[in-house]
Amino acid sequence: MALLEIKKAGDPVLKEVCAPVEKIDRRLRRLLDDMAETMYASEGVGIAAPQVGKLLRAVVIDVGEKRYDLINPVITEKEGTAVDTEGCLSVPEMYGEVERAETVKVEFLNRFGKKHVLEADGLLARCVQHELDHLDGRLFIDIAKNLHKGEKKK
Ligand code: CO
Repeated sequence: MALLEIKKAGDPVLKEVCAPVEKIDRRLRRLLDDMAETMYASEGVGIAAPQVGKLLRAVVIDVGEKRYDLINPVITEKEGTAVDTEGCLSVPEMYGEVERAETVKVEFLNRFGKKHVLEADGLLARCVQHELDHLDGRLFIDIAKNLHKGEKKK
C-alpha cells in the first residue's frame, strides 16, 4: 500500500464530476487500499477518489465501526435533517456546520463488484453524504455555515 497526496481546495480536480467505475479489478482495489491508508494516516473518517486525483465514483469510509468501500454509490432514500460540524481532508483545519439528511439509504458495489445496500444514520450517514458530494465536485465549504478555523477534534 502507499500513501497518496491529498488534493487541497482550489485544485480544479475537486470541482469535477467523477465518472462511474467500469472495471472492478485489482488495480481498483489497490487504489481503494491506498485511499484507506491515506485516510487512516490523516485521521479522516472518509475519502473520495477525486481527493487523490482520480475522477472515479469510489469512496472509502470508516467512522470507527468498519471500513466501507463504496463503488458507484447512489443515495436512494433520505429522511430527516440534522446539522453538525464537518471538516475535510482537502480543507485542513477548517470546520463548519452542515445540514444533511439524518438517515440515508445508499446502493453501491463493493470491492468485488457485489451489489449492496447500506442504511446509515448519525456520523455514517453524514459521511456518506459528504463523500458522495465529492464525486459531483462539491465541497462542504460550499454549503457550510459558520465556517471557521479550528484544531482537529477527531
Ligand atoms: Co471531504
